Order: sequence, then C-alpha cells, then structure tokens
Amino acid sequence: MKYIVTALLLFLSLPLQAAEPNNKEIKVYRSPNCNCCHKWISHLEKHKFTVIDILSHDMASVKDTVKLPRKLSSCHTAIIDGYIIEGHVPATDIERLIAEQPDISGLSVPNMPIGTPGMEMGNRKDDYNVLAFSPNGKVSIFQQYLQPQTEHHH
Ligand code: CU
Ligand code: CU
Repeated sequence: MKYIVTALLLFLSLPLQAAEPNNKEIKVYRSPNCNCCHKWISHLEKHKFTVIDILSHDMASVKDTVKLPRKLSSCHTAIIDGYIIEGHVPATDIERLIAEQPDISGLSVPNMPIGTPGMEMGNRKDDYNVLAFSPNGKVSIFQQYLQPQTEHHH
C-alpha cells in the first residue's frame, strides 16, 4: 500500500514539476554591512525564492572564486542552479534564466543602478541592462530596462 501511495505521489508530482521545474533555492554571498543586499534579498523572497544568506568580509575573493569578470562586479554574488547572479538582477530575469537554462555562466547588473530591485530611491530610475556572460568572456544583453522618456510639454 505504501508503495502504491509513493507511486501515485510521483505520478501526481510530474505535472506540477512541468509547471514549476525550478528549485528556487539561491545562495547569496554578501557583506554583513550591505544594506541594499538586504533589500534585494527581500525582493527575491517576495518572488518565492528561498534565500540562503551567507555573510563574507571578503567579497572580492568570493567573486574571484566563482570567476566573475571584474568589470561585471556589483555588491552581492549569488548562485542558483550553477549560475552566478551578480548584483541587483530582477527576480523575473532569474526565473527566466532557470526556466530557459541557457549555456552561460550567469547574469549581472554591474555596479548598482538606481531603480533596480533593492536600489529604489523615490521615483528616480536609471536605464540599465541585465547582462549575460559566458566562460569565454562573451557578454550580451539578457534584458534591457529603459525608463520611459520624460515628456516635455512646450
Ligand atoms: Cu547593492
Ligand atoms: Cu547587494
């Protein structure tokens, strides 16, 4: 009987896995005194990610260890499904990444543009790109966030 129940559960879990194939557990390495990192973690949690918060006093070494290209660096460095997530990458882009599983090393929003998740400052929003990067050094645009141009009335 126990065996049948297990088999039934396995069977029932298949369509569920098809709908949500992703284990949304993400390891976030950050400096203990980083405030915006905290806000980005809250953003992920709102999107139902399970965050493993790992504190480091030497983020430069963390970035070197995962072989993050220096020019792409930001504050925190996260790992999900073997991908590197650097900086204030929106949760929806991480969801797309783990759904599509492209052959890249990871995603980065270099520096810390204002208006990215965790970097909100009133109404100010900078244009920014989410970059995809590969082990061979290739960098491409994964997603572009352009703010609507302010209209000037004369
Ligand atoms: Cu930050
Ligand atoms: Cu951060």
